[in-house]
Amino acid sequence: MRGTPTQITLTINGSPQTWTVGSRDMLLHVLRDHKYFSVKQGCDTGDCGICTVLVDGKPVRSCMTRAVDVAGKSVQTTEGLSQNGELHPIQEAFMETGGAQCGFCTPGKIMAAKALLDRNPDPTVEEVREAMSGVLCRCTGYVRTNDAVLRAARKLRGEDTGPLQPLRFFLTEEESAADAPLPEDYRRADGDLKPLPPVVITPPDMPATEVVGKPEIKVDARKLVLGRPVYAFDKYVDGMLYAALLTSPHAHARIIDIDTSAAEALPGVHAVLTYKNVPRIKYASGGQSPPQPPPYDQVMFDNKVRHVGDRVAAVAAETPELAEKALRLIKVKYEALPHVIDPLEAMRPGAPVIHDEEDTEGIYDAQRNIVFHIEAEVGDVDKAFAEADYVHEAEYYTPKQQHVHLEPHVTITWWGEDDRLVVYTSTQVPFHVRRIIAPLIGVDPKRIRVIKPRIGGGFGNKQEIILEDVCAMLTVRTGRAVRLEYSRKQEFYSSRSSHPNIVRYKVGVKDGKVTAAQLYFLGDTGAYGAHALTVQMVGGFKGLTLYNAPNSRFISDAVYTNQPPTGAFRGYGATQAQYGYEVIMAEIAEKLGLDVVEFKRNNLLKVGEPMLLAKKLGEGREGYEQALTTSAIEECLDIGLRVTDFYAKRKAYANQTGRYRKGIGFATTMHGSGIAGLDMAAATIKMWDDG
Ligand code: FES
Ligand code: FES
Repeated sequence: MRGTPTQITLTINGSPQTWTVGSRDMLLHVLRDHKYFSVKQGCDTGDCGICTVLVDGKPVRSCMTRAVDVAGKSVQTTEGLSQNGELHPIQEAFMETGGAQCGFCTPGKIMAAKALLDRNPDPTVEEVREAMSGVLCRCTGYVRTNDAVLRAARKLRGEDTGPLQPLRFFLTEEESAADAPLPEDYRRADGDLKPLPPVVITPPDMPATEVVGKPEIKVDARKLVLGRPVYAFDKYVDGMLYAALLTSPHAHARIIDIDTSAAEALPGVHAVLTYKNVPRIKYASGGQSPPQPPPYDQVMFDNKVRHVGDRVAAVAAETPELAEKALRLIKVKYEALPHVIDPLEAMRPGAPVIHDEEDTEGIYDAQRNIVFHIEAEVGDVDKAFAEADYVHEAEYYTPKQQHVHLEPHVTITWWGEDDRLVVYTSTQVPFHVRRIIAPLIGVDPKRIRVIKPRIGGGFGNKQEIILEDVCAMLTVRTGRAVRLEYSRKQEFYSSRSSHPNIVRYKVGVKDGKVTAAQLYFLGDTGAYGAHALTVQMVGGFKGLTLYNAPNSRFISDAVYTNQPPTGAFRGYGATQAQYGYEVIMAEIAEKLGLDVVEFKRNNLLKVGEPMLLAKKLGEGREGYEQALTTSAIEECLDIGLRVTDFYAKRKAYANQTGRYRKGIGFATTMHGSGIAGLDMAAATIKMWDDG
């Protein structure tokens, strides 16, 4: 409780309540303390909007609203929407349109929609967009959710919405996707914002399907639109301790000494962890299939910090406030070291050496901060460049991006009734969590049970062991349940992000065909290199395979800097590499006076072709021969060109003046899910006794 205890009376979802709250307590935390778990926390700073509730019918950010300020008022949360098990039409519409993917933002969106439709039963698309714009979403996006609001409005007005149907076309032998009779409003005129239904085109050689291509309500959509407490973030265990992390204010420093005596003496503090009292066991935090690629360049706590936000100490205490107070009592004596945050400078002789410890193995060139150097080649690249009609070189840069999954990293650990350590965590890699933390905490893997509930977004950042080892160690040391979570700020400083890349391409063209391609791909892996090898290799493979030049060369360096570490991120390196290739192909088309679409289409990997670099660039190891066996890229191109009105807009935008101008571009991409020869899939069919 923060501030003076104050009694307030209010109405929650129609039910009168009298609560004692602190004068500075925010409504978000008070509601969650009273188990209104539909009210989510994404930032606690008023930015994301997913904590939206209605106060006297108006949407407010509950993290920015003091609980004492709603005394005497009526508060509505998603828990109050459904009646007697019947969903509210807004909840139905979110299910039907697929408006809830991870679902963490969904209750906030539903409350924003309710506020709009209560005051405006027939909103325009623009009004829906405006009303919903304050609630961020990182996975569904906004088309389906805005569609849900319009559909809910029709339901509430008593109109027949009917089942949601995609546009389906079955092509004959004589037709191509370009012939599919799309309605005229499928052409996206400038300013047309109306959500459109999905299009499903079935080529002539494919039989009509019973299920694929038809809308299906997600099996778990109901619990999401009801705002049920299905995430690790919603997990509280009776009597649990709250952990907090002390992190480095320095980009690069040695810890000369650390004094935790005052923190340990604070009543209510049960454990303090530092490099002095945890074993020095090397590991890599990336959740990757064993044998895990090196280097094992991390320990739970080190006497050196390598980025702002690096771990220094952890405490477990009776309350979050006490844990924070204990952190402030820890005295750390740092020796600041020179730091380097630019990967090109980090590779130069004389740059600060970030991993100078002797017990990390597997770094390619520690003195130059190069974690990995990769080379792969097919054909005779130099000869092909020499024989090309035209050779173009260019360099591009992709910045660091954070995943910003709306549910932060959160882990709760406790000893289960069968003396197994339960790790309840927001992760994408539960089996890797168990394997990786077992040696760090000194518990046999068989005695560790990892539970991965639904996660509120991960996008690769939860393919990493971020909090689990520390939280589990605190439970081992105290015997108590412990909860550890990151703040939004810590997500940026201390979790992971995408690799910023320097992307240098050289492409040779002969008779309109790409005959030679060379990619130098420099990745800044930050302070640790858990995904450095694999992200770079995938970037090279996917980047160069889209156009699959017969003579291709890939050279890559992954480099340590004193930036926060990087990891798995949507696309896993392919996005960065393909971005560069798409731009250089457009530049070549312009230079040669070619139609960019046809130039790219002419060069795309075709069905039946082997992917030439597949064997040389596996994921962290030698790969497998692969070939493209099916593809609908031609159909996608045809439809994409039509619905975007590509050529008409390109012509219209060509002769603009003024500071602000519009443009339209064309890009293709390839993406892979799963790792050849490594990942497995299986299905089990079970007949129940009820038939
Ligand atoms: S705006 Fe309240 S939690 Fe983000
Ligand atoms: S569904 Fe919106 S954040 Fe995941």
